[in-house]
Amino acid sequence: MKNILVVLGSGRRKGNTEMLADAFIKGAEDSGHKVQKVSLASLEVKNCLGCNACRYSKPCVLKDDFTKLIPQIKSADLIVFASPLYFWTLSARIKAFIERFYCMAEEDHNPPLGRYEKYPIHDSALLMTAADNLFWTFEQAVTYYKFAIVNYIGFKDKGMLLAGGCGETNGLPQIEKTNHLADAYIFGRSIYQN
Ligand SMILES: Cc1cc2nc3c(=O)[nH]c(=O)nc-3n(C[C@H](O)[C@H](O)[C@H](O)COP(=O)(O)O)c2cc1C
Repeated sequence: MKNILVVLGSGRRKGNTEMLADAFIKGAEDSGHKVQKVSLASLEVKNCLGCNACRYSKPCVLKDDFTKLIPQIKSADLIVFASPLYFWTLSARIKAFIERFYCMAEEDHNPPLGRYEKYPIHDSALLMTAADNLFWTFEQAVTYYKFAIVNYIGFKDKGMLLAGGCGETNGLPQIEKTNHLADAYIFGRSIYQN
């Protein structure tokens, strides 16, 4: 049994992204995992001020909901980043959440090339939805995920589900017309199976 934290970065509740995340969660729970879901739309997680107080052994100066999330982040075996594609990348809510990892950095006496500290984290996965479904639709988002979240922060990637074709210009959620929810269920159910 693994502890899974699903972080929702969509601006709206019950949209494509939350439906995708819920299908993943159902699959993970059916495999016996314990899942917690947090929506950044219902919390206040400000972006990093860059004051560097945390680099001088002080707690983060921002007093918002991120403080409450730190124990959940540290105890999670897997963090699932669930985001709509906003202007070809992850939503600003997810980006702000990631920026705040800065205050959790720990000293690393033997850092790999290009990294200066280490983070108290384990595995990660990426769930995304988008209106478009072209071969390059998720390219920037995947690059950010691989570069910053996996290669830099150091999460071990457990996979991605990139759900394109989830909306028309009217903006109404369309994910139920696709196979993505069934795929997300299978992804969740099999995430810790070999
Ligand atoms: C501000 C904004 C920017 C968006 N940018 C893109 C984009 O760059 N490419 C795309 O394919 N869809 C884009 N979309 C559409 C959403 O990614 C898509 O409808 C998504 O499934 C919405 O997720 P939600 O239902 O959880 O809100 C954008 C939507 C919004 C509101």
